[in-house]
Amino acid sequence: MKSLEDYKALHQASIADPEGFWTREAQRIDWSTPPRRALENDQPPFAHWFPGGETNLCHNAVDRWAAVRPDAPALICVSTETGSERTYSFAEVKAEVSAWAAAYQALGCGQGDRVLIYMPMIAEAAFAMLAAARIGAIHTVVFGGFASGALAARIDDAKPKLIVAADAGSRMGKVIAYKPLLDQALGIADHRPDKVIMVNRGLAPFHLAHHDVDAETLIAEHRGKEIACIPLPSAHPSYILYTSGTTGKPKGVQRDTGGYAVALAASMEHIFYGQPGGVFFSTSDIGWVVGHSYIVYGPLIAGMASIVYEGTPTRPDPGILWSLVAKHRVRTMFTAPTALRLLKKEDPAYLKAHDCTSLKALFVAGEPLDEPTALWIAEALGVPILDNYWQTETGWPILTLCRNLCDAPVKPGSPGLPVFGFDVRLVDERTGQPAAQGEKGVLTLAAPLPPGALTTLWQDDARFQSAYFGDFPGQNLYSTFDWGVQDEEGYTFILGRTDDVINVAGHRLGTREIEQAITTHPAVADTAVVGVADPLKGQTPIAFVVVKGGHGAGPDLAAEIVQAVAREIGALAKPQGVYFVPALPKTRSGKVLRRAIQAVWEDRDPGDLTTIEDEGALEAIRILRQGAPSP
Ligand code: PRX
Repeated sequence: MKSLEDYKALHQASIADPEGFWTREAQRIDWSTPPRRALENDQPPFAHWFPGGETNLCHNAVDRWAAVRPDAPALICVSTETGSERTYSFAEVKAEVSAWAAAYQALGCGQGDRVLIYMPMIAEAAFAMLAAARIGAIHTVVFGGFASGALAARIDDAKPKLIVAADAGSRMGKVIAYKPLLDQALGIADHRPDKVIMVNRGLAPFHLAHHDVDAETLIAEHRGKEIACIPLPSAHPSYILYTSGTTGKPKGVQRDTGGYAVALAASMEHIFYGQPGGVFFSTSDIGWVVGHSYIVYGPLIAGMASIVYEGTPTRPDPGILWSLVAKHRVRTMFTAPTALRLLKKEDPAYLKAHDCTSLKALFVAGEPLDEPTALWIAEALGVPILDNYWQTETGWPILTLCRNLCDAPVKPGSPGLPVFGFDVRLVDERTGQPAAQGEKGVLTLAAPLPPGALTTLWQDDARFQSAYFGDFPGQNLYSTFDWGVQDEEGYTFILGRTDDVINVAGHRLGTREIEQAITTHPAVADTAVVGVADPLKGQTPIAFVVVKGGHGAGPDLAAEIVQAVAREIGALAKPQGVYFVPALPKTRSGKVLRRAIQAVWEDRDPGDLTTIEDEGALEAIRILRQGAPSP
């Protein structure tokens, strides 16, 4: 273990000499053709990692281990919803993924074609992803909690050749049929996939339409076929993952192949206690970036078994996560603070009943980790709780404590130090000049972004440049849209978003997308959605709605508005409250003052209101607040 100073020197070297640093790290993966060099950076902010190199994510995640440890567990698929559990060895995963890859090819899908995956947490979801990687098809996983409107927008942007879906998922014992949502989405979308591969779990009745193919029959036809992993140029897009931004249109985060494999391998080694044969358990979902990096690819690339869990933290009882840790001797666990807050309310005996001594650490990410929760879980588990801060865009942690490289202590409230490869700069929001030490600034990353980070937005280089690098022209600074502050030792504290993105139970949602969903209701003239503090979920959306003349406001309309959000985006985005107002507080140029609304609702000072057009509109919200129930 190294001291804080040693780590800072290593971090500095990774920034000053990316060539040297990443050439060494690149040796952690198999290359069919070794790269010419680590970095080509002649078109900033577009970085090209490992040019000349050819590799394959599926080879590094599956075949490499199937060759040396074929019988070792790779995927441990547990569903507390259906009461099932099945472990697949690396050899079995290789066989399944080969069959899926052969099926894709038989359906005319090849290198560069998109495969959209709309699936619950079942083994087939991982097979579908890995099979795409195997043949150089580009997967785009859409979270199963998204409804038809969000799904249709992603179908139209990614234009998939194939869609892979299942009849249903299940949550808290309630079956959620996916097929009707998919059919509705296909009804809305302009794009048509060639085929839809349907996994039938027998949970919800459905009919195969003319473009649907039954997965079991299809895969059975191709079982036994050996489809080799195709060597792909390092820059070949491995996947697209949509995430929310300031506008209503989701951003298609695009990732490469070689850089991603190297970054994940490095992070597994230096951050996540990676060890072949160890067990990794992340409670996230394949629909999110944590699921991509730390359920599917990262653990497998490190030769670990990964638990694919369909279930919640409290069913059948609040000890379920810890019983899985004990049963499978989990080495590394990863969850979100919301799950811990949920468990904190329960009897601690549920935790104490299970032997969690196999755990090296519990990692948490996705939203701020509050101190009481951090202290409670650290005491209860007796292992380090390692907060890590990152984004869909970066693919792996920007800030944390790299335990393999540094023994610096955890500081409550801070995820830690900049991770190797990330040139973190806190800057003034207007000038891009460095914020003074101890002063709040926008957390930016100086280009080149490290390997594994997004290389562009799907088919939109211009938006990639303007959305992320546009705030500080000429400075090549990527904005995370988060506020941060650094202490004298370099520990960074995250202070919330600078934009209109909110974080509900670790799920990133755009308030503009929710507003768009609300305005699909014919009675709505105008709306503003803000995220307000919630003791369990971190934040929760609430909506202020101006009704069109002639329409009556009331509980029925509020319920219809909530339904519109559930239909367009999904239940996870439902506003917790709908408040009818005569007007929205706006600036004279017509911009809604969301920040001021949020402040008023959270009983904070709304700040500078010199640009407000109509103070009465904000006052009306203040009065509503006094009558509204506390969260
Ligand atoms: O605002 C930050 C918050 O979540 C955003 C990224 O969300 P997403 O793209 O879904 O990626 C999650 C990957 C773990 C960030 O811009 N965020 C993420 N991690 C933390 C966090 N806020 C505070 N502390 C964290 N550890």
